[in-house]
Amino acid sequence: MGGISPEREISLETGKALLSALEHRGYQGVPIDFLGIADLSRLMEKSPGGRKVDVLFNALHGPYGEDGTIQGFLEILRIPYTGSGVLSSAICMDKVMSKRIFQLNDIPTPSCVLYHPDMDLSHIPLPAVVKPSRQGSTIGISIVREKKEMEGAVKLAKRYDRIVLIEEYIRGREAAVGVLDGKPLTPIGITPAGEFYDFDAKYLAGTTEYHLPALFPKETLTLLQRYAARCFDLLGCRSAVRIDFIVDETDRPFVLEVNTLPGMTAHSLLPKAAAYDGIEFDELVERILDLATLDYC
Ligand SMILES: Nc1ncnc2c1ncn2[C@@H]1O[C@H](COP(=O)(O)OP(=O)(O)O)[C@@H](O)[C@H]1O
Ligand SMILES: [Mg+2]
Repeated sequence: MGGISPEREISLETGKALLSALEHRGYQGVPIDFLGIADLSRLMEKSPGGRKVDVLFNALHGPYGEDGTIQGFLEILRIPYTGSGVLSSAICMDKVMSKRIFQLNDIPTPSCVLYHPDMDLSHIPLPAVVKPSRQGSTIGISIVREKKEMEGAVKLAKRYDRIVLIEEYIRGREAAVGVLDGKPLTPIGITPAGEFYDFDAKYLAGTTEYHLPALFPKETLTLLQRYAARCFDLLGCRSAVRIDFIVDETDRPFVLEVNTLPGMTAHSLLPKAAAYDGIEFDELVERILDLATLDYC
């Protein structure tokens, strides 16, 4: 838990919630606040009782946690870990790479161009969404409505990643679909109070409305679940993921991204959907633990 990405604080919350659920279920967990490689060297040592780590429960979010890097380290140590494997984690973290896979497989996703310093930004149709390719929690993302805002938006995104994408803006409502071991959960509808589902709307209580199931026609709910399950398979995911969508004004869903290590506090989106579908938090956590594995095993 913790980690060195801008989502550190959220990860600490996730980690605490997971640890207490594991304890309720009778497991012995040792929290590791990961700030650097020295913290991980503990994984290589045997505990005083002579036991090695059985499983690493990954509660990290964002770069160096959700992006395949720590997963690669754990593969070398031969320590089974929760969540998706190396390749899937890396692709899902990278919005440009995952979008290429969605497009090749006819999964609707907003179109995008990659930012390049030589490009003429004045020709980009507005509104547009400027994003770092590999971040989370809406960090570094701007909705650009006027030409004069574009340069600042690119500059902001560049602070978080050298790969920046400029995406078609979809006017509509947000939805998120959890997928547990390949099976889609009930879609959640999200109505942020402000312009979009930004960092504050995600984590400051009371600013966002959630609907379970999301308030869309039945066919849209079915489509959301079908696309979610298909993305899980196409991107080679394991365990529990959350897929973010925008549903346009004609009720057509567009995939934004796949989160391979979604927030896991009792009030996070995926646990809410699981609870609605009859899987309480502690049980969900144990299911994720049971799905822990290695890519090469
Ligand atoms: N193409 C888009 N059209 C409209 N809103 C968008 C678009 N892309 C992102 N957003 C807004 O930004 C939020 C975060 O975008 P997302 O791609 O899910 O990145 P993150 O990894 O930061 O969650 C979305 O939940 C939505 O509110
Ligand atoms: Mg998102």
